[in-house]
Amino acid sequence: MQLYLAALAGYTDPCFRKIVEDFHPAGMTTEMVSMRALYYGDKKTLQMLTPPDNPYTSLQIFGDDPDIIGACLEKYLNDLPNFSAFELNMGCPAPKIVKSGAGSALLKDLDRAGRIMEVLKEKANRPVGIKTRKGFDEDTLGLDAAKFAEKIGLDYVIIHGRTRAMYYDGLADWDFIHQVAREVSLPVFGNGDITSPQMAEDQLKEEDLAGIYIGRGAIGNPWIFAGKEPSLEDRFKVMKRHLNLALDYYGPYRGIREMRKHFIGYVKGLPGSKKLKQDLVQCKDREEVEKCLENYLQTRPNLDFF
Ligand SMILES: Cc1cc2nc3c(=O)[nH]c(=O)nc-3n(C[C@H](O)[C@H](O)[C@H](O)COP(=O)(O)O)c2cc1C
Repeated sequence: MQLYLAALAGYTDPCFRKIVEDFHPAGMTTEMVSMRALYYGDKKTLQMLTPPDNPYTSLQIFGDDPDIIGACLEKYLNDLPNFSAFELNMGCPAPKIVKSGAGSALLKDLDRAGRIMEVLKEKANRPVGIKTRKGFDEDTLGLDAAKFAEKIGLDYVIIHGRTRAMYYDGLADWDFIHQVAREVSLPVFGNGDITSPQMAEDQLKEEDLAGIYIGRGAIGNPWIFAGKEPSLEDRFKVMKRHLNLALDYYGPYRGIREMRKHFIGYVKGLPGSKKLKQDLVQCKDREEVEKCLENYLQTRPNLDFF
């Protein structure tokens, strides 16, 4: 099935993507990378450009200024190996991003969005897509954005079926997503609220979508891409591998802190998960995490009893 990992700031870093890779998604996306920060050589931003080992990860970028984006392409992005595509974020709802004129603000300024798309089309040395929303407020500007992308000759469109005003509330409008797929000749990918392979399959049945992007449904659940439920032992094995990757990548201090939100995702829904979460987020190093998981495994029979 054509299931892809969506961009999730704070989550889809190289460590989580390495974990997801083991479950064979059709593709993956980085966290969104600020072109302004990159332009000024910000160190954390440069680290986000770590190339993947696989050839099916797209690099997501956000920005408001076509010239800055063009300069970043020439100075950094085009030289990066392995990233399969560049993806322009036109959907981020965060006030700070919108105020800066980037993310979903581009839906309200399609002229500027078009200029950015033109720069990307002209200068990028690989395929370029956009990831956008249904609209900004009650409108459906996402369809116009997709048509712009088609006119300019970009390569694909991902539609999250909510407006910016909805943030992450309410339900994604899959009828709208299918409408875009019917009206635009580019490959259109759908996104929003998919939490099982069955749900994805239901949407793919209409045969108008090129694939489905999964965001929150993959947090703590990379197994979604393989369509299976892990045993508790497998779950903990993946958690430990993920932790090791984060400790290597970020170093011990930041590594364990980056893992806290992932731990919460991994243990969500387990019996006694409230206490397990509390214990895990207080762990200061690998040994404490291992002890905590071992302890849970040993007390599991009692937990099953309740
Ligand atoms: C914590 C978080 C971070 C996100 N970061 C990004 C991002 O960097 N770029 C992006 O295009 N969308 C981002 N999104 C939106 C998701 O990619 C996705 O469009 C949205 O969550 C709906 O899909 P889902 O229901 O499968 O999660 C983020 C969402 C969440 C919850």
